[in-house]
Amino acid sequence: MIDNHFVVPASLTGKRILLGVTGSIAAYKVAGWVREFTTRSAEVTVVMTKAAKRFVSAMTFGALSGNRVYGDMFVREPEELMAHITLSREADVLLIAPATAHTIARLACGMADDLLSAAVLAAKIPVVVCPAMNTAMYTHPATQHNIGRLCDLGYHVIPPECGELACGEEGAGRLPEWETVHEKLIALFCPQDLKGKNIVITAGPTREALDPARYLSNRSSGKMGYALARTAARRGAEVTLVSGPVNLAIPPGVETMQVTTARQMQARVLEKAESADIIVKAAAVSDFRPKNCHRQKIKKNQGISPIEVEENPDILATLGKRKDKGTMLVGFAAESSNHEAEGRRKLEQKKADLIVVNDILRPETGFDVDTNQVILVDAGGSKQLPLMSKEETANRIWDHILTL
Ligand code: C5P
Repeated sequence: MIDNHFVVPASLTGKRILLGVTGSIAAYKVAGWVREFTTRSAEVTVVMTKAAKRFVSAMTFGALSGNRVYGDMFVREPEELMAHITLSREADVLLIAPATAHTIARLACGMADDLLSAAVLAAKIPVVVCPAMNTAMYTHPATQHNIGRLCDLGYHVIPPECGELACGEEGAGRLPEWETVHEKLIALFCPQDLKGKNIVITAGPTREALDPARYLSNRSSGKMGYALARTAARRGAEVTLVSGPVNLAIPPGVETMQVTTARQMQARVLEKAESADIIVKAAAVSDFRPKNCHRQKIKKNQGISPIEVEENPDILATLGKRKDKGTMLVGFAAESSNHEAEGRRKLEQKKADLIVVNDILRPETGFDVDTNQVILVDAGGSKQLPLMSKEETANRIWDHILTL
C-alpha cells in the first residue's frame, strides 16, 4: 500500500514571508531573493525603511513581489492603519535583510519608531536577521553587543559572510548567500526531531582507477544522499557527508568529506562510525576495482586486454558485522528486478536495520533525476512511498527511521 502522509516541508511553497529591507547597498541583492521566493510559490510582502528606499525603489519590490510595499507608519489608507500589527499576523516568518547596524541597534533596544521596528515588536512569528555592513561596523563591540541581544531575544541571526565588500574593503559583513538563507528558512518550518543525533551519510559513486585517465564507476549522481544530508541538517542533526565525486553544492551546515575510491570511503566511514547514532549508506559503491592500476595511460595500439578486477570491501556489511552499540544502519538497494525480495535479502545479509529500495529502470526513479519512489524494507515489514522529490523522499525516510 502506498503511504501518502506528509508532515515535514521540503520547500517554502505556500509560506508567507514578511521581508523587512533596510538601508544598505545589499538591498539590491535582496530584490533578487524576492524573485527566488516567488518562483518557489512563497508569498512575499515587503516593508522598507526610509533609508532602504534611497538604494532600491519600492516599485522594484512591488513589481517583483506582486504585492503592495509598505513603508510609512502614518498613512491615510484605512487598510494600512494597523499594518504594524496585521503584517506579521498574516505572515509565517519575518526576514530582515539586509539588516544595517542602525536597524540592529534599534531592534536591540526594542524601539518602535518606524513601521518595520514596530512590526518586529508586534511579531509572534520567527524573526530572522541578516546583518550586512562594513567589517569595522560589524565587528564593533556595540554592534556585536546588539547582535548578542537579538539572539537573547530569540531572533535568528544569520552571520554575514567574509569577502569583498561594496565599500572596497575586505572582511566579514557581506550579506549571506541566498542558499544559506533559504536553508535557514526551511529549517524553521521543520521539526527539530533529529537534534542531538550524529548522522553519517555516504553519497554518490566511487571511482576505481584503471590508468591515469580511466576509471570504473557508475551513474550515481549523489542527489539522494545529498537530499538526506540536507534534510537531516534541517531537522537538527549533526551531519557528516562522505561523498564520492559528484557535481552538487554542499548542503549548508553539513560537514563534508570528499573521497574517490571505495577504500577511501570505507576509511572515512569507519573513522566516523564510532560516534554515529545513524549511518546511511546511500552511496553507490563500486563492487569491484581493477586489480592493477596502470601507471601510464593504456594505448590503443597495445590491443584489447581483459580488465582483471578484485572485490571492494562491502562497507555496509562490514559495519553490520561489527555492530555493537546500537548504531542504526540504513542501506540502499538500486534494483532492476525483484525489488522487495532483493531488499530483504540485503537487509539480512548485511545486518542492516533498514534497506531503501528503488527501481533503476524507471526513468523517474533511476539515476540523476530529482524524483524517487522507494520501498522501505525492515524487520517489521515493508512500505512503499509515493513518487515524489528526493527531498520529500528523504524526509519520509527520516520519519520512518525515527519510528524504528
Ligand atoms: O550489494 P549492494 O551493492 O546492492 O548493496 C547496496 C548497499 O550496500 C548500499 O547501501 C551501498 O552503499 C552498500 N555498499 C557498500 N559497500 C559496497 C557495496 C555496497 O557499503 N562495496
